[in-house]
Amino acid sequence: GLTACDKTNVKAVWSKVASHVEDYGAETLERMFIVYPQTKTYFPHFDLHHGSAQIRAHGKKVLSAIGEAVTHIDDLASALNKLSDLHAQTLRVDPVNFKLLIHCFLVVLAVHCPTVLTAEVHVSVDKFLLAVANVLTSKYR
Ligand code: HEM
Repeated sequence: GLTACDKTNVKAVWSKVASHVEDYGAETLERMFIVYPQTKTYFPHFDLHHGSAQIRAHGKKVLSAIGEAVTHIDDLASALNKLSDLHAQTLRVDPVNFKLLIHCFLVVLAVHCPTVLTAEVHVSVDKFLLAVANVLTSKYR
């Protein structure tokens, strides 16, 4: 599980991310669609070109939801309950895709906040995002 130190590290990172959720979210999704094109199959109804307003809006939604999870880091299961239903029951996103999104977000952090992302902080953020992904995929079976 997340240690007290992990939680402190994640909150420190989020203080840098919070004012950039749309930019960082859009860049995360754009990287995911380019580097792992199989992820595009979940978004047949989206304009996936560079600069797409839909990608920007969706990136903002995803990172804002992660920000909510940071706020409720001690109670991820209830904070993410509705999103968990959506991803498991309605969208049926294969869990492997969460790892791809997490990887792309870590790259965005490394690019935009290089001094923040020490190896220790990298571990904490990775653990936290895996905990979020575990909640979002917990209702699959
Ligand atoms: C929708 C968050 C991972 C595919 C959403 C929404 C949020 C969200 C906040 C909007 C819900 C609403 O409108 O009420 C997250 C978070 C993730 C994650 C926090 C990981 C930490 C993924 C992954 C995929 C995916 C890995 C697929 C590769 C979708 C799709 C929608 C959606 C297809 C619906 C888009 C639309 O039609 O507007 N997600 N998501 N999500 N998510 Fe995720």
